[in-house]
Parts: sequence; C-alpha cells; structure tokens
Amino acid sequence: MPTFRAPRGTRDLLPPERAVFGRLEAVARDLSRRYGYREMETPLFEQAAVFERGIGEMTDVIEKELFRLVPRSEEGEVWALRPEATAGIVRGYVQHGMHTWPQPVKVSLIGPMFRYDRPQAGRYRQFWQWDVEAIGDPGPAIDAELIELGARFYREAGLDDVLLLLNSIGDTECRPAYVAELAAYFREHAVQLPDLERRRLETNPLRLLDSKDPSLAALQARAPRIVDRLCPACAEHFGAVRSHLDTLGIAYRLEPALVRGLDYYTRTAFEYYREGAEGQQQALGGGGRYDGLVQLLGGQPTPGIGFALGLDRVALNLQSSGLAEGQRPPLAVIVGAEPAATAERLKLATALRAEGLPVRADLSRRKLGRQLEGAARDGAHFAVIVAEGSENGALQLKDLQAGTQRPLAAVDLARELRRAESSHRHG
Ligand code: HAM
Repeated sequence: MPTFRAPRGTRDLLPPERAVFGRLEAVARDLSRRYGYREMETPLFEQAAVFERGIGEMTDVIEKELFRLVPRSEEGEVWALRPEATAGIVRGYVQHGMHTWPQPVKVSLIGPMFRYDRPQAGRYRQFWQWDVEAIGDPGPAIDAELIELGARFYREAGLDDVLLLLNSIGDTECRPAYVAELAAYFREHAVQLPDLERRRLETNPLRLLDSKDPSLAALQARAPRIVDRLCPACAEHFGAVRSHLDTLGIAYRLEPALVRGLDYYTRTAFEYYREGAEGQQQALGGGGRYDGLVQLLGGQPTPGIGFALGLDRVALNLQSSGLAEGQRPPLAVIVGAEPAATAERLKLATALRAEGLPVRADLSRRKLGRQLEGAARDGAHFAVIVAEGSENGALQLKDLQAGTQRPLAAVDLARELRRAESSHRHG
C-alpha cells in the first residue's frame, strides 16, 4: 500500500485517459466556436452564498454535497468549491454588467467541479464538465439550438446512441400550485414513503418524482404531472421548443418526471442518457432554462438557458465501448548504431521537433537491435538510424510498417517525414 493516495472520489487522469479528455475538450471547443459560444473562466471557489442562493438551500447539491472551505477569519467570507458552473457564470454576468453586451451572452466553460457525493462508478467528487450558457434570450428557438448542440457533441465525440429526455417544469406562475398539489398527493400516501422521502416531502416535494426508490414507483406513476398543469405561456413555450426540435430532426422522449436537481430551473428541462442506461447517476449531461437566476443573484430580470455535459461519463462510455482512441504513436524514433552517441540522436530529434514533427530519440545506451525493438513497440511509423560516425551524413530511414529500409541524406529527413505524416495522418 502506498503511503499517499488520491483522495476518495478523485482520481488521477493518467496519460491515456487524459488524452481522451483532451479529445473531448477539442470537440467541445470546436463546437463552441461553430455555435458562437466564447470561453470564460470563473474561480474554482466562490462565496458559498452564490451557490446556496443560486442552486437552492434544500437541494442535495447544497445540503449534502457542497465542499465548504474552512473560513479564513481575516476575510470573514465563507467559500465553497464550485459544484457546477452556472451560478458562478451568472454571478460574473451580473458583476461585470454583461447585460450591456449584445444579448444573448453566449459563453462556455470547461473545467473541474466538486461535489461531496458518495463515490461510485461514474460519480466522483471531482469531475469535469463542459458547460454552455446563453443568457438574455427567452427562447423558445435558442432552447432548441442549445439542445441540438448538446446532442451533436455526443455524436462528434463518438457516441451514436444518446437519448434526449425532455420536460417543461413551468415557472413562478404555474409551478407553486403544482408543487402544492404534488405535496398533497404524496402526503395522502405518507405512510408508504421511506423516511428520506417523507422529509423531502416537506422541503422539496419535486424531488420525490425522480427518486429511484423502488417502493415509490407505483405512487410516482399516478402522481399529477406538471406538463398537464402548465400555464398558457409555459405551455406555448414548450410547444414551440418541441416544434423547433422537430424542425431540426432532433428526436426526444417526453419525461414528465424529469425535474432536475437544482432549484433555479424554469420551463425547459432536459437530460442526455445512453439508450438503455436511463438510471440514476447515468446522465451524460443535463440542463435547462433558468429565467429567475440572474435576478436571484442581484441582476435585472434576465432569462437564460444552458447545459453541462459530464466529460468523465462520456470518457467512461467511450472506453467501455472500445471507442476511446489510444495514445498517439511518435512518427519516428531516432536510433543509433553507436549506443553511446546519445548527443547525436538528441540533436537530430531536437531539430525535427523544432520543425514541428513528433519524434522520440532513444536516449538509452542499448544496442541498436534493442533500440529498434523499442521503436516497434512504440508503434512508430519510422526508425531513423544514425550510422556510426555519420555526422551530417547518410542516415537510414527504416519504415517499420512496410518493413523497408533505404539510405537518406540528413538534409532530406524533415521533408521526407513531413510528407509521410501528411499522407498518413498519424494518430
Ligand atoms: P447537473 O445535472 O447537476 O447540471 O450536472 C450535469 C452533468 O454533470 C451530469 O449529467 C453528469 O454527467 C455530470 N455530473 C454531475 N455530478 C457528477 C459527479 N459527481 N461525477 C461525475 N459526473 C457528474 C448542472 O451542473 C447544471 N449546472 C447544468 C446547467 C447549465 N444548467 C443550466 N446551465
């Protein structure tokens, strides 16, 4: 047992897995650019009140999962690690007067989030999200644009079987009466409720709808549904979101029990799952509209919508389906007939790297045969053999894939490798 380990619920991303994350980030950044979202950063920690007020004191994320930092007396502020990005981004929108920018303000953020959750497969205490927000547009068209963007991410990342679940959870007009009706319904059946759910009934009755406790299944199935009780404005909005999605050819499943775990949502709510894996903790991403949040955090009334996609879960799904790309092999490995002439090999590799080529120099003092074995094990396309005393002279270019070898002048090497690289697209 090593003396120190990464904290429970966290993990090191070793190079092969980090490479998968890097590819997902590249897909996300490219989509952000195409869809007009500009990246921003917020601090990894904020005043705890930003999250408490934004996300809601009675949510699991705040009540149980918030990583609070020990208060530093000289500042007199209580901080917490960010459990998600939306509250911080909206705090930034208000702080920097972004309502004076052209609306909507479309921003994205890729980074780690922290939740003190019970760790299990796909659920970590530090995890990564790609978060996208469009602030200042009431929809409905932008709702569809954003939902389609999320769906496209999974396809471009390599997951073709991602399902979209959709609901509308109303607004301040229609939801309070619905929540009261829901609470009354569950209260009538209070004896059947497990302890935890009976407590939730008093604090956050909506959560009973997406509780996965099997003893609740029958009650949930008969519970009143918010979609049947939307006020006319919310119903019209939802209908328009759906028809925009239809126009874009985006398939979805209506999910009346989808209420999301954060309090700031209004109207449109959605989640992405892999087909057949719609259980708890399996969501690959989710989001929705939050038309009250800007005001809640001190700004003018401003609508907004966004999503966050969990990169860890996407990476896990790619890996378990054998879709994650392995490490990129070097294009060439520089080996030498003179084992001790490491400076020569290093110099040649340095010159090629300066030209932008991905090469490795064998800096061991192994015999040539062993160096060549190493190059083959790396999956390199070429081994460049520096012959004894070949200072500026002839090299041997060995094509490890074709099994051929030919002499080559050092001055021609970079051009030759570049040509092979562009015709072959290594990695
Ligand atoms: P969320 O549903 O709490 O929404 O999280 C979004 C996604 O982050 C989840 O679907 C999941 O893939 C991933 N995720 C959440 N918790 C964990 C965890 N403990 N371990 C691994 N992955 C996790 C939000 O965070 C909202 N801020 C989304 C949003 C943006 N709504 C509007 N704008």
